[in-house]
Amino acid sequence: MPWLQLRIDATEDNAQQLSDVMEEAGAISVTLEDAADQILIEPDAEALPLWSRTRVVGLFDAASDVEPVKARLRALLGRERLPGLQLKVIEDQDWGRAWMDRFEPICFQNDLWVCPSWRTPPDPNACNIYLDPGLAFGTGTHASTALCLEWLGEQGLTDKEIVDYGCGSGILAVAGLKRGARRAWGVDDDPRALAVSAGNAEKNEVSANYRPVPPESLPPGLQVDIVLANILLAPLIALAPRLTALVKPGGNLVLAGILKDQVSSLRPYYEGGFDLAVRTREEWAMLAGAKRAPCD
Ligand SMILES: C[S@@+](CC[C@H](N)C(=O)[O-])C[C@H]1O[C@@H](n2cnc3c(N)ncnc32)[C@H](O)[C@@H]1O
Repeated sequence: MPWLQLRIDATEDNAQQLSDVMEEAGAISVTLEDAADQILIEPDAEALPLWSRTRVVGLFDAASDVEPVKARLRALLGRERLPGLQLKVIEDQDWGRAWMDRFEPICFQNDLWVCPSWRTPPDPNACNIYLDPGLAFGTGTHASTALCLEWLGEQGLTDKEIVDYGCGSGILAVAGLKRGARRAWGVDDDPRALAVSAGNAEKNEVSANYRPVPPESLPPGLQVDIVLANILLAPLIALAPRLTALVKPGGNLVLAGILKDQVSSLRPYYEGGFDLAVRTREEWAMLAGAKRAPCD
C-alpha cells in the first residue's frame, strides 16, 4: 500500500509545533531531518539538538486528505505558502527501507537498549529489545515512548501482569516482559500493530507470555498490575472508564502521548481513582500513579 509523504521546511523554533500538528492530524509517523537528510534521533531529550534548518516529514495513509493538515500548518505559521512544501507518494517497500536506514540503537537507563532487529546490539550483555517497527509506531525515539520506558525501568516487574493499550510496535509490552513481567497484553485497534507487535515479541523470545488482542477481545473483568497507554489526548479521555477498570486496586496506570499543556485537560478524568504524578520530556507529558483502594 502506498503512503503520502508531506515535507516542509522548519526552523529551530517551530519544528516541534509543526511536528505536533502532523501527529495530531493522524500522521503515521513524523520525523525531523536536517538539511543533509539525517534523521534526528537523540535519547537524551534534554540535550536535544535541532538544526537551524530542519525539515518536518509526516507520513500519512495514502487515502488521507492532507488539505486540512496543510491548512492547520499554514495557520500555525501565519503564512499563505508552506515553505519548501513537498508532497509525494511513497511505496510501502521504500518506507520500510527508510526506517531501516534511520533507526539506530538507543540506550535507556544504562542497561536497557532498544535495538533495530537487523543491527548487532552495542552491549550484548544489556537488556536488549530487538525491534522491527514495520508500519507500527514505537521505536523509543519518541519522547512519550521514552518516558514510558524510563518509568517501566524503575519498577519491580517480576510476576506482574501488564496491559500495553495502544501497543503499536509492542515496545512497552516487550520491555515489560524482558524485565520479568509474567504476562503482557498488547491492545491495539490497528490490526497491523497487533501483527508487528507479535513479531517483535517473537524476536525477543517473549511471545509465550505476550497476548496481542483487539480492544474488544480483552477478557471481560480483566484487572492487571500495570496499564500503560501511550495514545493521544482524545482517546485517553474516551477510554478513561475502561483503563480505570483495567487496573487492580494498588496497581499502576501510566498515561502518555499528551502535550504538557494537555495535562490539565486529562487529569480530571482519572484523578478520582488514581494518585497521579506528572513527568515531562520535550513538549510531552506522562501521568503515572497508583490506583486507590475503594476505601482510601
Ligand atoms: C503513539 S502509538 C504508541 C505505540 C507504543 N505503545 C509506544 O509507546 O511507542 C499509539 C497506538 O495506539 C493505537 N490506538 C489509538 N487509539 C486507540 C484506541 N482507541 N484503542 C486501541 N488502540 C488505539 C494506535 O493504533 C497506535 O498503534
